[in-house]
Amino acid sequence: MIAPVAAFDRMGEENAFAVLARATALASAGRDIINLGIGQPDFKTPQHVVEAAVKALRDGHHGYTYANGIVEVREAVCRRTRDMTGQEVSPDRVMITPGGKPAMYAAIMMLGEPGAEILYPDPGFPIYRSMIDFTGAKAIPVPLREDNDFAFSAEETLSLITDRTKLLILNSPSNPTGGVTPRAEIEKLVHGLAAWPDLAILSDEIYDVMTYDGEKHVSLLEFPDIRDRLIVLNGWSKTWAMTGWRLGWSIWPDGLYDGVRKLAVNSWSCVNAPAQWAGVAAIDGPQDQVHEMLAAFDRRRKLVAELANGLDNVTCRTPKGAFYAFPNIKATGWRSKPLAKALLEDAGVALIGGPDFGGYGEGYMRVSCASSDDSIRAAFERIGTFLADNRPE
Ligand SMILES: Cc1ncc(COP(=O)(O)O)c(C=O)c1O
Repeated sequence: MIAPVAAFDRMGEENAFAVLARATALASAGRDIINLGIGQPDFKTPQHVVEAAVKALRDGHHGYTYANGIVEVREAVCRRTRDMTGQEVSPDRVMITPGGKPAMYAAIMMLGEPGAEILYPDPGFPIYRSMIDFTGAKAIPVPLREDNDFAFSAEETLSLITDRTKLLILNSPSNPTGGVTPRAEIEKLVHGLAAWPDLAILSDEIYDVMTYDGEKHVSLLEFPDIRDRLIVLNGWSKTWAMTGWRLGWSIWPDGLYDGVRKLAVNSWSCVNAPAQWAGVAAIDGPQDQVHEMLAAFDRRRKLVAELANGLDNVTCRTPKGAFYAFPNIKATGWRSKPLAKALLEDAGVALIGGPDFGGYGEGYMRVSCASSDDSIRAAFERIGTFLADNRPE
């Protein structure tokens, strides 16, 4: 049988898509499924954003654009970056991509090779690890520990860097834990990075607006000392509920920008034009729906933590960011993946097992808050009944 080259055997997957497919198949077959597995907002893209895309099509914006994106959307990204971080960024260093994901693909492809080491968060977004393995670089997990509120420890992160480390991947607020790394820890980390001037940093800030309890997101852009080796990943998917539009942005240092532009030319050419105009409207238009969504996530993250803590043998930290909670199920005796499977097949509740985000995720489940309060309550009723009635496999 025809087969791709061996490197493809090393490439991983994002199991959340498999769970979504299975949950959808069960629902189509008539099963009542509550989906707390999904990593996309359960809100609609704001109407004025949709209208901007329709208008763009009507106005004839249906051709190729620059590979790095139309000037208008890159300038909008610069305005938003200034508002969020107080930092000036040149539109010539902004890259528009189909979703935020291609930025991690590009960064890892440009810096990973056999003999190199890349540090990535564990538990963390699964594509980091998958792409590192694909390049043949050695993937070195940076553990995000529950007793540290799932924040990065500067000391532990710095202790893992060697002469071979080419890239450090950070993600705060975090998928899947909802952890937020405090400013003091980020400052300590950046201070320590001065000893490693050839190490690039990819800061995945796609959940930057989703912090709670008055906590403000800390962007790595705020640290001028690392700007010449910093890549910041962000995008529209989560903030404006635009996952299916495939629209993301990233900010690149001089030395890497041309590489990512070339990758675009060699693969996706450019992001579809109407989506880019929608992106301008999302950034520049009214933000009321974003605030409504954030208020719902804020309420639900507390609800999820309260309901999870109400289950026998389950504990859950109240997430400080993003829209995920990461309850600890170790005392139930279940391992995470068999529990996720059984809950979906037997109780009709879709969650993602922690190990789908790395080895340090064993003993945890990712619960998405992107579902109504009522369905969250109903899901936890089912989970409680299931755990009471079933022994671990
Ligand atoms: C941490 C993190 N980074 C990046 C992405 C990719 O987002 P996009 O759908 O814009 O490619 C996700 C999506 O789930 C994510 O959780």
